Amino acid sequence: MGDSQLLALFSVFMALCLLPHYALAMTRRYDFNIKMQNVTRLCHTKSIVTVNGKFPGPPVVAREGDRLLIKVTNHVPNNITIHWHGIRQLRSGWADGPAYITQCPIQTGQSYVYNFTIVGQRGTLFWHAHISWLRSTLYGPIIILPKKNVNYPFQKPYKEVPIIFGEWFNADPEAIIKQALATGGGPNVSDAYTINGLPGPLYNCSAKDTFKLRVKAGKTYLLRIINAALNDELFFSIANHTLTVVDADAVYVKPFQTSTLLITPGQTTNVLLHTKPRFPGATFLMTARPYVTGPGTFDNSTVAAILEYKTPSPLHIKNLPLHKPHLPSLNDTSFATAFAGKLRSLASPEFPAKVPREVERRFFFTVGLGTRPCHRKNATCQGPNGTRFAASVSNVSFVLPSKALLGAHFAGRSSGVYSPDFPVSPLRWFNYTGSPPNNTAVGNGTKLVVLAFNTSVEVVLQDTSILGAESHPLHLHGFNFFVVGQGFGNYDPNSDPNGFNLVDPVERNTVGVPAGGWVAIRFLADNPGVWFMHCHLEVHTSWGLKMAWLVLDGKLPNQKLLPPPSDLPKC
Ligand code: C2O
Repeated sequence: MGDSQLLALFSVFMALCLLPHYALAMTRRYDFNIKMQNVTRLCHTKSIVTVNGKFPGPPVVAREGDRLLIKVTNHVPNNITIHWHGIRQLRSGWADGPAYITQCPIQTGQSYVYNFTIVGQRGTLFWHAHISWLRSTLYGPIIILPKKNVNYPFQKPYKEVPIIFGEWFNADPEAIIKQALATGGGPNVSDAYTINGLPGPLYNCSAKDTFKLRVKAGKTYLLRIINAALNDELFFSIANHTLTVVDADAVYVKPFQTSTLLITPGQTTNVLLHTKPRFPGATFLMTARPYVTGPGTFDNSTVAAILEYKTPSPLHIKNLPLHKPHLPSLNDTSFATAFAGKLRSLASPEFPAKVPREVERRFFFTVGLGTRPCHRKNATCQGPNGTRFAASVSNVSFVLPSKALLGAHFAGRSSGVYSPDFPVSPLRWFNYTGSPPNNTAVGNGTKLVVLAFNTSVEVVLQDTSILGAESHPLHLHGFNFFVVGQGFGNYDPNSDPNGFNLVDPVERNTVGVPAGGWVAIRFLADNPGVWFMHCHLEVHTSWGLKMAWLVLDGKLPNQKLLPPPSDLPKC
């Protein structure tokens, strides 16, 4: 071996030694094989679509700053896409995942590598299928740890545990939504809610399918709570224990204590659970059931899991008393309002709340349900008064295109795919939260709002009561937003902004629009691409309560959407 080879070897050796100190961020690879798997719940065995045969799906674990390469291979008959809910996808919109928005679906036998880097985020998010209702079984946690050697801004937990809520259907969810869309009526409701895939002891034939959280006395546990249910906001509580909320949608919040949480589909939250200082001689149920404001039927059942203390001595754990939590009533909007009011950004020097103070573009969108005429020959539809259910943003019920919007935009071929003329405010004004006007037929289209790079945006989302006031968890892709204000009745642009919080509003990606009220959000459009915004109640998305933003490239090279990856699926 010559001197120069030795030198080369030595420098490789040195580089390897130094690596752990410099290469703090790493690339993590996952293989997601989409395949069918038999699963039994409530004494019903059925074949469901899973990732790697797991239900719920496997957690994706990374640190802030890491790059993820997740290869999704489709071995099922359905078209598939996966969305990394809440990941900002800076300039990497091709990896966002909503079908026909940022990509064509991955067809049977095909694969696609989702390639993205986690920038400036740490906390809990989740991944889920983003096509039709396949997310009912295709979902799992995303756990983003702080960078190496960086601490949480709260007490270090003894252990961390994901708690992921879902909704179980004995029937095939794809058949349920297909039928609902065909008849115009409401879809059949789920048969159970689940915690980590398990319905728990309060359903028929499911006591053995109960999630147990076994804890030690005198410790702090970090619960990473995710609502992956399809159609229901959930109250959650653990009997005789108080929870400290420290994070919402992967953003730290000012810690506060509560015995009950409210979490909408699409929301995630981290809470600290301090266990009792001594073995309490009891076990405790943790339960969740829905918060419902809208018309129509819903699954009003209760999912339960068990918090069990490890015994200090060989006690008989079987005969311990069981404590049950008290949850708010199903329509407790005052709880919802009070809970939303407690969520505040940490707004510390290390984690500042970068609320846009000046607003360049203002939007006022109505969100809610409505109807469409039947159009079925010699038949009536099963929606209200023989019509079909429809849902809209500003009376535009969004129609998914047959080609992906992002690809059409990037190729400069929008014609026939979308139009850039989504209304800034509703074309027809009415008393949104009063008694509905006569003609409420919903229109449709594939319309986008176009924003210049770095525009500061304010959007007021106004609930409508055409079919009854209802809370809508609105989710924005590609951004976090600040919830600067909310209220009941119709938004008043003259007086309501006086009450806006521009100091420490909560920063998140999904917010419940109050039933019969409005919410105001602000964000900076610093991420070029096409970004979906929709109600995270899946049935409302199916009915058209969705729209998209197109954020144009900025002038600088690092302000442009990257070109599409070569394996991007084709339609
Ligand atoms: Cu969690 Cu567009 O979704």
